[in-house]
Amino acid sequence: MYQLQRLHNQIAYLAPLGLEALFEERLAGRVYTRQDRLFWGKIEDAFLARWAANQWSELYEIQFESILECAKALTSLQRSWWPYLPAGSSRASYIQKALPHVGAKPIVFTGKPTTYPPLGSWRLLDDHRVLASPQCTSPRPNGEWEFVEDRLGPPNRAYLKLWEAFTRLGVAPQKGEVCLDLGASPGGWTWVLQRLGASVKAFDRSPLREDLMQASEVEFVEADAFRVDLSAYPEASWLFCDVICYPEKLYEWVSTSVLPSSIQHAVCTLKFQGREHYGIIDSFLAIPGGWLGHLSQNKHELTWVWTRPVK
Ligand SMILES: C[S@@+](CC[C@H](N)C(=O)[O-])C[C@H]1O[C@@H](n2cnc3c(N)ncnc32)[C@H](O)[C@@H]1O
Repeated sequence: MYQLQRLHNQIAYLAPLGLEALFEERLAGRVYTRQDRLFWGKIEDAFLARWAANQWSELYEIQFESILECAKALTSLQRSWWPYLPAGSSRASYIQKALPHVGAKPIVFTGKPTTYPPLGSWRLLDDHRVLASPQCTSPRPNGEWEFVEDRLGPPNRAYLKLWEAFTRLGVAPQKGEVCLDLGASPGGWTWVLQRLGASVKAFDRSPLREDLMQASEVEFVEADAFRVDLSAYPEASWLFCDVICYPEKLYEWVSTSVLPSSIQHAVCTLKFQGREHYGIIDSFLAIPGGWLGHLSQNKHELTWVWTRPVK
């Protein structure tokens, strides 16, 4: 018979690919276990929660003899599971096959709010032990928001960041809404916005791809993004900013220009170069109505998505 042991006060973070060192640095001096990109122990940490691809919030260790016993233990906790697989483990693959089927096809982006059923995560620690969490922050396999890509339409892969932000947060510009896209070139985000039927004013020092420059719903303005007078665009309800700059500069501009304006929603990328800039994360989090997290397509970046709170 299997044995289930709840690991009280323990949590696991799955680091995004390439950001493992950030987790290691943050956890230096603390007691934790690491396997590949998974870090766990009594390590609850609001900073890591922002960066994690997935957070395993209710940890159990399961001891079992057979594959079927393991599958039974997992399904006693909840129906749907996804493995964070040790490379090349056939035993882990057999366990997953013994679990109820989970459809995890790439998402077809529609721009409409969709709900995803909860998905637990598990990891085979050795032949007779599994680490599992029925509660995870992401409903997608290992926190990867994978989409059916459009390899012909957009000018670059940046469009996937907006698809993910809109899908995860269930908000997106509606047909006819006016969007300001700052740091827009070559136009991945502008491409998404105009395809949703929005009207886009795109600001950059460099032009967009030619077809976007010619698109009737897009107006390109050659300008320094941080000198744009937002009060000149009272019809704009959305603001997007993907300019490469220090996050402190972005915060200063958001505080002095965006918050006092009539903008209702904002999506901004915080681009980090070194750990000395992490302090600004708390300042963004202190702005009411905001969400801050790491998107699957983000590198050493966080995305801030904000909706003006109703007064
Ligand atoms: C990461 S790229 C933006 C990619 C774009 N979001 C897309 O989807 O294609 C950053 C852009 O910011 C622009 N940029 C950097 N500093 C700027 C500034 N002060 N004013 C306007 N644009 C700026 C760069 O020219 C570059 O096109």
